[in-house]
Amino acid sequence: MAESLPSDATSALPRVAVLASGRGSNLAALLAAHERGELAVQFVLVGSDKAAAPALQLAADAGVPTLALDPRSYADRRAFDHDLLQRVTASGAQYLVLAGYMRVVDGDALRPWVGRVINIHPSLLPKYRGLHTHRRALEAGDVEHGASVHFVTAELDGGPVIAQARIRVEAGDDEDALAARLLPLEHRLLPAVLGLLAAGRLQWIDNGPQLDGSPLRAPLMLGEHGLHPPQ
Ligand code: GRF
Repeated sequence: MAESLPSDATSALPRVAVLASGRGSNLAALLAAHERGELAVQFVLVGSDKAAAPALQLAADAGVPTLALDPRSYADRRAFDHDLLQRVTASGAQYLVLAGYMRVVDGDALRPWVGRVINIHPSLLPKYRGLHTHRRALEAGDVEHGASVHFVTAELDGGPVIAQARIRVEAGDDEDALAARLLPLEHRLLPAVLGLLAAGRLQWIDNGPQLDGSPLRAPLMLGEHGLHPPQ
């Protein structure tokens, strides 16, 4: 017998999976935005490469199905990533958010997802791909720092940037101070970008991002009232 489709109103919402490796404050921000009615999506899965990630507990508390896979029980990274993304596909997710997911995803496994996966990275990309971004911004003497949400491609932290949040670096800032000042902005930035993607306003067309039907030539900026085009 054919399975009947769920008839509740949420079933029509864009389905989103999230991957997170750690504390999950960005996931919490997504769930909170959803709870406030500001993010019209349905979270269908939160997955992690760490069974003890607090992000998984946050998801479970919010009633979102969880998945923990241990990379050590796979032959290699490729095998792990293929299985993980297959399970994400099986969850019915249409979009995937990397929210503090600390592994590079295999390019082949990613291919069917390109244009539907976003990541949040704590730097003003293309500056400081990879780790220790706050330290590197301080060491470089930058006067400005920030966070970026970008489309994920096979290149580490290298896909087109969609939107950024900026902060000033103040005298006396250390890594912790910068991270603490940036995090609340990350928590507004990621839901805002996911909202555009899930609403179909942000699309991946001809190998690049388009917003409302026009190529996005420069990252959107997070301002007091949300995202706006760069001035
Ligand atoms: C955030 O700073 C995010 O930008 C980076 O990893 C951190 C994750 O924090 N990719 P959390 O787990 O969301 O609290």
